[in-house]
Amino acid sequence: FQDTDIKKSFSGKTALVTAGPTQEAIDPVRYIGNHSSGKMGLAIALELAEKGAKVELILGPVSLALPTHPNIHITKVISAHQMYEAAAKLHQNTDLSVFAAAVADYAPAHPAKDKIKKAAEDFSISLKKNIDIAAKLGEVKKSHQVHIGFALETSNENQNALSKLERKNFDLVILNSMNDQGAGFKHDTNKVTIFHKDGKIHRTELMSKTDIAKEIVKSIEKIFSTEGQ
Ligand code: CTP
Ligand code: CA
Repeated sequence: FQDTDIKKSFSGKTALVTAGPTQEAIDPVRYIGNHSSGKMGLAIALELAEKGAKVELILGPVSLALPTHPNIHITKVISAHQMYEAAAKLHQNTDLSVFAAAVADYAPAHPAKDKIKKAAEDFSISLKKNIDIAAKLGEVKKSHQVHIGFALETSNENQNALSKLERKNFDLVILNSMNDQGAGFKHDTNKVTIFHKDGKIHRTELMSKTDIAKEIVKSIEKIFSTEGQ
């Protein structure tokens, strides 16, 4: 028996991936942002596309070369609000959502129309909480939909990661530990712990973000293969 067109593990599946940082405008020339490079999310989007998924990638401002895979469609956004709008539109038609973006938790409450001029010694900006994209879409998640989230923690890591899994209705949460050498924001390597909602835990070694993405996608594959029987 020979099959020239071997069915890939994600063929027929649609995936939503959020990636990169968000930028929240203070005025026309300044913003609140973070150090996310978008590498982890892009690597996951690519791996899913390679395995046959149709990927909707919602990408915050990154300085990386964008993937040109035929299975990846990119929507570029700047703010958390824009990222939410784009994700909410696509979510109901997706089998899988991967929330890899480092979404700003707060945004300036009243961004200035004109550039703010320097004046007083003390200056403060009032902030308001952004919508939690993963939590909000977790509320409307259907039983066939799979949600994957990330957690970046510096203390009480496992406990915090597990509480995010529950609170945001994730099937898997991937813990990035800031305490590990060579892991996190500015590195090309990473070391993660993958928590399944059924209690299974998988720890990776320190490896390239591409290899971590492969490990994560393998874990996602397992969820679909046990569900789809
Ligand atoms: N997330 C999101 N929208 C937000 C904030 C977070 O979709 N406004 C997602 C992230 O993409 C990630 C997960 O939620 O998959 C956890 O993000 P994290 O920043 O670790 O959690 P928070 O709930 O924001 O809690 P805190 O920053 O206080 O630890
Ligand atoms: Ca946060």
